Amino acid sequence: MDDTAKLILNGQEYLLPVIVGSENEVGVDISRLRSDSGAITLDSGYANTGACISDITFIDGEKGILRYRGYPIEQLAEKARFPEVAYLLIFGELPTATQLDSFRQDLTYHSMIHEDMKKFFEGFRHTAHPMAILSAMVTSMSSYYPEIDEEDEYRNIVRLLAKTKTIAAYAYKKAIGQPFVYPKNSLSYCSNFLHMMFSVPAEPYEVDPVLEDALNVLLILHADHEQNCSTSTVRMVGSSQANLYASIAAGICALWGPLHGGANQKVIEMLTMIQDDGGDLKKYVDKAKDKDDGFRLFGFGHRVYKNFDPRATILRKAAASVLDRLGVDDPLLDIARQLEEIALKDEYFVQRNLYPNVDFYSGIIYRAMGIPTDMFTVMFALGRLPGWVAHWKELRDDPKGRINRPRQIYTGSTERNFVPLDQRG
Ligand code: CMC
Repeated sequence: MDDTAKLILNGQEYLLPVIVGSENEVGVDISRLRSDSGAITLDSGYANTGACISDITFIDGEKGILRYRGYPIEQLAEKARFPEVAYLLIFGELPTATQLDSFRQDLTYHSMIHEDMKKFFEGFRHTAHPMAILSAMVTSMSSYYPEIDEEDEYRNIVRLLAKTKTIAAYAYKKAIGQPFVYPKNSLSYCSNFLHMMFSVPAEPYEVDPVLEDALNVLLILHADHEQNCSTSTVRMVGSSQANLYASIAAGICALWGPLHGGANQKVIEMLTMIQDDGGDLKKYVDKAKDKDDGFRLFGFGHRVYKNFDPRATILRKAAASVLDRLGVDDPLLDIARQLEEIALKDEYFVQRNLYPNVDFYSGIIYRAMGIPTDMFTVMFALGRLPGWVAHWKELRDDPKGRINRPRQIYTGSTERNFVPLDQRG
């Protein structure tokens, strides 16, 4: 591989350094292009733009590979627990037994939110979307837990991971009008969340290990996905040296959109709509192909994966197994399978390399677990927290870090004189 690329612009040659990653990914470094030539690059949707150099996650979209810090997602989903994956992503290596014990203990002992924060929940309408509550509450954590010295960085990371699950469960309790349930120190990360979601003071609640295992896998699969929309948002906001909570809250808002993390909610709404409409799958596949119809098959397609999404492969199997173990018979799973089968054979989807993504089957598992549809994106956010934190920290620790500030090609009016109100037509 040459270590420089050549650009000819207006007859002038520019040599651009070529950067090769550890998996032989090639990037042309244009950092000096504007200062040397006056030109910028234009890349709508950033599909060809590397915004940073990162050690955290590797994806090969053609081969369907996803690795966190080098470890294949399939191995992590099968063998690891979520706190250990969070540690791996944030601190770079798998924890030793002692490190994991201490990290788990920190995650447990920081689970309660400040009592005053509970009052914030009173101000939200009971119909508020839990993503609105989550983002607002995460931002407000910065007023309780400011970063004053270096040790606060670790403490705030732990607080964020520990307390966000409490906030998420409280958002659900608020929506259904039940009292908040405090976390229990004897429970694991996933069990504690389920306990806060589903316990009621009137009767004892035992966490079903099937639910705990299912949640563990889902959170691991969501934990990072390199420079996606929400992570890039976290990095964008973090690049201004905004605090951890503000940066993560921005990521939560970005995740909310239906083209990103909000797709899991949309998938279930779509499958329910198809079911209520008599189950005519072809009609909806045709609608998705019709460019004059705004409808898309949610849970299909991905900017990076062009063959299969390895997370969807794991979740397809997990959905069947979790429903089976829980004894749940969900007709939406059958509709999802049939829809997948039809779409995968359809020329439109084949030509465009559109395959089920992580969100296609995750909602079916969440539904079987008793998690309501509007909480699905919150679940995605809980899983994605360690990834966002890892990227925020990587940026923070980079001595060469600069504020992110893209350029544009301006296509508006050229200079013109202001016209006073009484002279306008
Ligand atoms: N249904 C129908 N057509 C689609 C779909 C779909 N789900 N996804 C893409 N296409 C078509 C699109 O219309 C375009 O067609 P044409 O070339 O004729 O104009 C072509 O496929 C390329 O699509 P694109 O929108 O240019 O691709 P993108 O890389 O900009 O968007 C995407 C990727 C995920 C936003 C898109 O596939 C989509 O909207 N999918 C549905 C929403 C969804 O499931 N999102 C969750 C993504 S996975 C979780 C995460 O990491 O966020």
